[in-house]
Amino acid sequence: MRAATTAPVVLGIETSCDETGVGIVRGTELLANRIASSMELHARFGGVVPEIAARAHLEQMQPTIEGALADAGLTLDDIDAIAVTAGPGLAGALMVGIGAAKGLAAARELPLYGVNHLVGHVAADVLSGAPLELPTIALLVSGGHTSLLLVRDLAGDVELLGETIDDAAGEAFDKTARLLGLSYPGGPSIDAAAIGGDPAAIAFPRGLTAPKDRDRHRWNFSFSGLKTAVARHVERAEAAAEALPVADVAASFREAVVDVLVAKALDACAAHGIPRLLLGGGVVANRRLREVATERAEAAGVTLRIPPLELCTDNGAMIAAVGAMLVARGDAPSPAGFAAESTLEADVVQVVDDASTR
Ligand code: KG4
Ligand code: ZN
Repeated sequence: MRAATTAPVVLGIETSCDETGVGIVRGTELLANRIASSMELHARFGGVVPEIAARAHLEQMQPTIEGALADAGLTLDDIDAIAVTAGPGLAGALMVGIGAAKGLAAARELPLYGVNHLVGHVAADVLSGAPLELPTIALLVSGGHTSLLLVRDLAGDVELLGETIDDAAGEAFDKTARLLGLSYPGGPSIDAAAIGGDPAAIAFPRGLTAPKDRDRHRWNFSFSGLKTAVARHVERAEAAAEALPVADVAASFREAVVDVLVAKALDACAAHGIPRLLLGGGVVANRRLREVATERAEAAGVTLRIPPLELCTDNGAMIAAVGAMLVARGDAPSPAGFAAESTLEADVVQVVDDASTR
């Protein structure tokens, strides 16, 4: 490794879902953020197909690494360490990134850090320029996760407060879009369909918000009941041969999702006495979510942080940012035999377990 007088240059690889992401950072400075998405390949299935995602990662890996290096104006000689998403995510997809990272690290004799994708989503914020104030509550909402975290220290103290017990928020958008005959990915198409719709037209259920849910599920989420309620609504309209008020259904569905997400996140802020909320994940692209979160956070005296969208969706730069933090702290790299962990818990920032010796 080069002298520690300048911050370490870390190349991060992300392949947990359908985005092949390669990012390069120098400490907390963003140098490159290349993303190749296989989203279009999944469109006709209405959701991510794991095998197709894994194959696409394999094809995109080398060009994406080369593209990121070119964007940063660097070569592999300038890289001090490699970081890769070890989990959570799709096992086959994760394995492609881990394989590439291990190959690169071995060939260039670089330290390799297998890191947590969820922590990466939070770390993305350090790349946006302003320092991240801790502790903070973080709400991560994408096609793969709906997680509420209490982050005290990015490199070591992250607590999972709650998560979805069925569909992820983005998945709910994708499945509901399909029910409404709208295209994949569902988030943007529901956003578009909701224009002019009345968000109060249909009182769709708000999952796990009843008083009885407060003990066990205060900060957990459930969206499958909402999806079923939309399906019943569509069936009723069909049975009665009525035209479906798509704009009203889309607006009311979106309102139900947004309402629950923001209410639970701000409740976590209040309960923990933490007046800071960070949003991450692809669903943050939702206009109504940003609007409602901004309004209600302000009313509650909570400072809201939303990183730029290209850092909110899955990317390699956020993984590199976690790696840079671990290098800066002097943490040892992950053992050479670490494996993909599709259900990695949020509190494991770096994988230090050698799966080959289990
Ligand atoms: O973070 P992301 O790009 O990838 C992962 O799922 O890991 O998130 C993609 C998800 C999809 O489910 C998509 O429908 C959702 O984010 N999404 C949105 C919007 N744009 C994308 N959801 C709601 N509103 C949007 N405007
Ligand atoms: Zn993600």
